[in-house]
Amino acid sequence: MNTTRNAWIRALPKAELHLHIEGTLEPEMLFAKAQKHGVALPCLNVDALRSAYNFSNLQSFLDLYYAGANVLRNEEDFYDLTWAYLLRAKQDGVVHAEIFFDPQTHTARNISLDVVISGIVAALRDGEATLGITWRLIPSFLRHLSEADAFATLDQLTPYMQHCHGFGLDSSELGHPPSKFSRVFAGVRAMGLPVVAHAGEEGPPSYVYEALDELKVARIDHGIRAIEDDALTARLARDRVPLTVCPLSNVRLCAVKSLDLHPLKRLLDAGCVVTINSDDPAYFGGYVAQNYIATAEALSLTPEELKRIAAMSITSSWLPNHVKQQHVERIERC
Ligand code: ADE
Ligand code: ZN
Repeated sequence: MNTTRNAWIRALPKAELHLHIEGTLEPEMLFAKAQKHGVALPCLNVDALRSAYNFSNLQSFLDLYYAGANVLRNEEDFYDLTWAYLLRAKQDGVVHAEIFFDPQTHTARNISLDVVISGIVAALRDGEATLGITWRLIPSFLRHLSEADAFATLDQLTPYMQHCHGFGLDSSELGHPPSKFSRVFAGVRAMGLPVVAHAGEEGPPSYVYEALDELKVARIDHGIRAIEDDALTARLARDRVPLTVCPLSNVRLCAVKSLDLHPLKRLLDAGCVVTINSDDPAYFGGYVAQNYIATAEALSLTPEELKRIAAMSITSSWLPNHVKQQHVERIERC
């Protein structure tokens, strides 16, 4: 372990662009919230829960992730969850975070969007004021649910649109191609909002093409299977479509066999706009800096490449150009 280099990586200003706030629920908080609300858990203690985080694919993770979210019940819970993430993010050099949340995971349990959004936004505002971390919020549609359910969710979000800076698409990828949501995303774009979608995490390159051509996404979340299609990789590079890659997630969900085989460096070498993010850090064993550190080690990324990746995280964000420029200049001085 190279402690000097790791401290340098941690201090590198960076944006986190692929982070599910429900995926930051650490076992300790999960147990505390379960106790507070009298929710029964299948595991006896924190260690037993953590050792159950042994996933064979995306679905095996999602089953536990949705079960865990069931302990989030009131505004304080969403505040505490978001605040704990921001404290971690600060330590990792995050200067800007664009955060997903899954409205349907909560409305399906009769938790109102008011509770969810008020708690998250209050913490994000406090984080901006006291930690200096700017933010955007991205509600994400669950793709295993229907188009009608997504439209209903979009409708329910109408009173909260000032807090919705774009929309995403997540959950079980295989069997639920982006085209299933073409009309919903057209509706979102008609409101003048940018859209992103998980694609090419477990799903084939054709799902990445659909996300680009049918959903007209501003970024692809994951996108790692684009490496299987040279024409697609070249197109992503040519059109400067950012990929929000989450290396530790990809290994923990068995999308990639081991970190040294991860396609991130090949995508970077092909000219793609690659960023490093943590996805669901409480479940995958590392926040964003740990993703940078482990990937740098496994793929022998140079300091210049790490600075390029951090700068691309900033330029791929939805910050105003003059703010992007200030962050990029700081990265160049690192
Ligand atoms: N929801 C939370 N994490 C996810 C992931 N990695 N892929 C799809 N949906 C998710
Ligand atoms: Zn994700």
